[in-house]
Amino acid sequence: MKKITKAIIPAAGLGTRMLPISHAVPKEMLPIVDLPAVYYLVEEAAKSGITDILIITNRDKDAMESFFDLSIEYEKALSAKGKIKEVERLHEIANMANVYFLRQKETKGLGHAVGRARSFVGDEPFVVLYGDDVIFSETPVCRQMMDVYEKYGKSVVGVKPVTPEQLTKYSSLKVENVDGEKNVTFCTDMIEKPKPGEEFSNLSILGRVLLTPDVFDIIDALEPGAGGEYQLTDAMKKMARNGGVYALEFEGDRYDLGSKFGLLKANVIKGLTHPETKDELREFIKELAKTL
Ligand code: UTP
Repeated sequence: MKKITKAIIPAAGLGTRMLPISHAVPKEMLPIVDLPAVYYLVEEAAKSGITDILIITNRDKDAMESFFDLSIEYEKALSAKGKIKEVERLHEIANMANVYFLRQKETKGLGHAVGRARSFVGDEPFVVLYGDDVIFSETPVCRQMMDVYEKYGKSVVGVKPVTPEQLTKYSSLKVENVDGEKNVTFCTDMIEKPKPGEEFSNLSILGRVLLTPDVFDIIDALEPGAGGEYQLTDAMKKMARNGGVYALEFEGDRYDLGSKFGLLKANVIKGLTHPETKDELREFIKELAKTL
């Protein structure tokens, strides 16, 4: 079985749910306390053993490249002020993994974005971390997915049960139990953005998938799907129907950073553990709650 060393982060979406800010700042660069969302995705992949990460971007998202780069002038200024720890931290971030960038050029959907990664990925299985979805967990979700792949040798989709309202925005999966497994099921069909009554189950794909490279031929043959976009779910649906994919109900709390409320929640959660903010934030929330 081939070792998984590569991941893709599609981050070329327009971010319309985060307007007006996303007009000028990539939503992937919005801060969760003092780190951008994309940092957490790269960290999760690197901690899972991924060494090479391709971020799919567009012409307005150069800030992501700068974030993973070093700036000699900036470092000199920090060093002159004795801020050595801060300089070391910037190096740590720059060295988490080999991070590559590729522009999608046209915003034609998540399936199209992943298709751009074909020559980067080659003939290997790879992980996709959706640029919007930050997941805080004990074991990195990427690693949880890789463990399932290493056991079964097939594509794996990361799932969670969602509300009927959320189902219509995401996807719905048809699954069967797998002997001896609690959180892993076998998926034989799926539908993107089902209308009420079209859903198979309350399980939706949320933020992480691990794909075998045969997905690229399927992506190349895709027709535009829901919303007129080339949908990755439609490609994975083909894989599910022709031989199945595994579905992992992963452990972890997911925050949709493409939504305003998701960004606020992630900030509160991280703010309550960050050494520089946790005490003040806790007191602030307690006082505020009295007035609500
Ligand atoms: P979303 O649909 O959640 O992102 O796509 P979006 O299109 O930016 O969001 P809204 O609805 O306009 O607010 C899921 C993921 O796929 C990426 C997005 O960046 C996001 O991480 N994506 C989407 C691409 O990389 N390219 C695309 O053409 C579309």
